[in-house]
Amino acid sequence: MAVDLLLGLQWGDEGKGKIVDVLTANYNIIARFQGGPNAGHTLEFDGIKHVLRTIPSGIFHENSLNVIGNGVVVDPVVFVKELEGLDKFNIDYKKKLVISRKAHIILPTHRLLDAASEASKGKAKIGSTLKGIGPTYMDKTGRNGLRFGDLEMDDWKEKYRNLADKHESMISFYNVDIQYDLEDLEKEFFAAVKKLRELKFIDSEEFLHQAQKNNQTILAEGAQGSLLDIDFGTYPYVTSSNTTAAGACTGLGIAPNQINEVFGIFKAYTTRVGGGPFPTELFDEDGKTMAKNGNEFGAVTGRPRRCGWLDLVALKYAVQVNGVTQLMMMKGDVLSGFETLKVCTGYTYKGEEISHFPFNIEEENLSPIYTEVKGWKEDLTKMTDESEFPQEFKDYITYIEKEIEVPIKIVSVGPDRKQTIMR
Ligand code: GDP
Ligand code: IMO
Ligand code: MG
Repeated sequence: MAVDLLLGLQWGDEGKGKIVDVLTANYNIIARFQGGPNAGHTLEFDGIKHVLRTIPSGIFHENSLNVIGNGVVVDPVVFVKELEGLDKFNIDYKKKLVISRKAHIILPTHRLLDAASEASKGKAKIGSTLKGIGPTYMDKTGRNGLRFGDLEMDDWKEKYRNLADKHESMISFYNVDIQYDLEDLEKEFFAAVKKLRELKFIDSEEFLHQAQKNNQTILAEGAQGSLLDIDFGTYPYVTSSNTTAAGACTGLGIAPNQINEVFGIFKAYTTRVGGGPFPTELFDEDGKTMAKNGNEFGAVTGRPRRCGWLDLVALKYAVQVNGVTQLMMMKGDVLSGFETLKVCTGYTYKGEEISHFPFNIEEENLSPIYTEVKGWKEDLTKMTDESEFPQEFKDYITYIEKEIEVPIKIVSVGPDRKQTIMR
């Protein structure tokens, strides 16, 4: 069976966790392919809200198997806390959750290096979640990293020590004031590693290959969003992995010709957390209304998310880079009550009108060109069928579909599993 992908098309937090949870009923296996505990994927059902960081969002379904792929970076300490959070829900994670031997491990010193690097950047800081993501991927591409498979070898502690010692000298090189007690951090780290060894480590590319041969259905779950991709995002204000469709191939060992549907998720407006350019960002009452009605606070860091209008140029770019076959529009309910909505349909770039996403989108070079559309007043959150949608909301959906030339198959009107309308 072919593999379907689900990816965020903006700057993350589009609602991937919610939709993966909704779609899991259709799949045998849910596999995360990149990112790490910088992600915060929220699921809501039966009146309870769950935030997952590294664990795939299929974990709550009885029959799903959840794979952490080789492209993911895992912090044992965060991971164990996540597992403990699942304890009260009686989830048999020893059976339902497996980790690729090739997945890289985030060391305590990776987190410290992240903090030192950000502190040294001053105003130009990325606004990283400080979970050690950048330094861990740097060690991966620098060929120094520690992987889950190493934990099964006799010399892993020696490898750990060498790497941590090297990190300590790098931290001092940054010449910033980072306070830490490595002994304490290591105690916590080694205890977490011990606990993680209770889980099954697998050769995930072989495992997924066999699953495909046995007609198992697989959904690959992305983290972050296309505009945070290391190659195609708003570099350097990005994360350190390929968040786009290609990342699923390298992050799971799935061949490109095995990919079937590519589900692209976007919010009916735009948000961004952390630093970096954001052409349609709002600094007025409209932006505040979006933030308030959308409860736009980071699921990982609690930081307020920056809000702005929907950017169709950026969305088209993400659809193109990923080969999106179906769209899913989230949080339309948050826009109820706006008299008019603006949608960015082009940019003025260095004085010239353009319709593509250029190399540099900093505001000194670029400003958005807007089209106005009529808003709606009705509360959408209790609607269960698209026939109930106000005409203006239907028009908004049709307008986006026409511009992007990809159908919107799911419309989400609230955080709960049930507030999901299939079209
Ligand atoms: P993810 O990282 O892509 O999984 O998204 P997050 O969980 O970080 O952020 C999405 C937030 O929006 C979460 O708090 C969700 O509960 C919430 N959410 C998801 N879909 C909807 C929706 O359609 N309407 C509203 N109002 N909230 C939603
Ligand atoms: P999910 O999967 C939103 C942002 C950070 C920062 C930049 C780099 O929940 O959508 P990093 O910690 O990777 O070094 O941070 O990327 N960022 C996210 N923003 N959602 C996420 O994940 C994010 N993961 C990282 O805020 O700007
Ligand atoms: Mg999130």
